[in-house]
Amino acid sequence: MRRTSRSIAALREQAQHCRACPLYRNATQVVFGEGRVTARIVLIGEQPGDREDLSGKPFVGPAGKLLDRALEQAGVEREATYVTNAVKHFKFELRGKRRIHKKPNDQEISACTHEWLEQELRLIEPALVVAMGATAARAVFGRTTAIGKNRGHVIKDAALVNEITADVIVTVHPSYLLRVRDEDRHAAFDQFVADLKLARKYAPA
Ligand code: URA
Repeated sequence: MRRTSRSIAALREQAQHCRACPLYRNATQVVFGEGRVTARIVLIGEQPGDREDLSGKPFVGPAGKLLDRALEQAGVEREATYVTNAVKHFKFELRGKRRIHKKPNDQEISACTHEWLEQELRLIEPALVVAMGATAARAVFGRTTAIGKNRGHVIKDAALVNEITADVIVTVHPSYLLRVRDEDRHAAFDQFVADLKLARKYAPA
């Protein structure tokens, strides 16, 4: 096993005991990043959803299916990437028996980024980070970053949290595409695919 994969494995193991914020109390388990530890592209989402929380794997629910479809259309092999989230525990509120997704707050994002996402990026050293949605963008840049204004091009040598430098593409979160009005959905999906195509061209596997 390469050093990186051992280290990511060690990190994943340590994360199981994370108490850096209160989200561990209600979540089923930590959902750590997954994929190629030598990946050229790291894809970052917000936090695990209901299905991810139960399975322990990132992006396996409806948003994950949509991401898979977009990656395929863009010619990006998911297995060649590393897929992770800004926040590693599912945050939700109970409505009856249903667990409804709740956005992580700034403290939760920065605690989790500092504990885990930073280490993942340092170990993998990807050629490109793809921040999907506002939470991922907030995690990597350490501040609120508008998606609409910043998408569609590579932000080179971006100064990320804690002196990490990386080339970054920001784009929408796949869940956004599930919520968008019917008449706008095709165009929004195509634009997401275009961002992923740009990622493939910029950082081919
Ligand atoms: N949404 C995310 O941001 N991450 C997942 O893993 C699933 C849904």
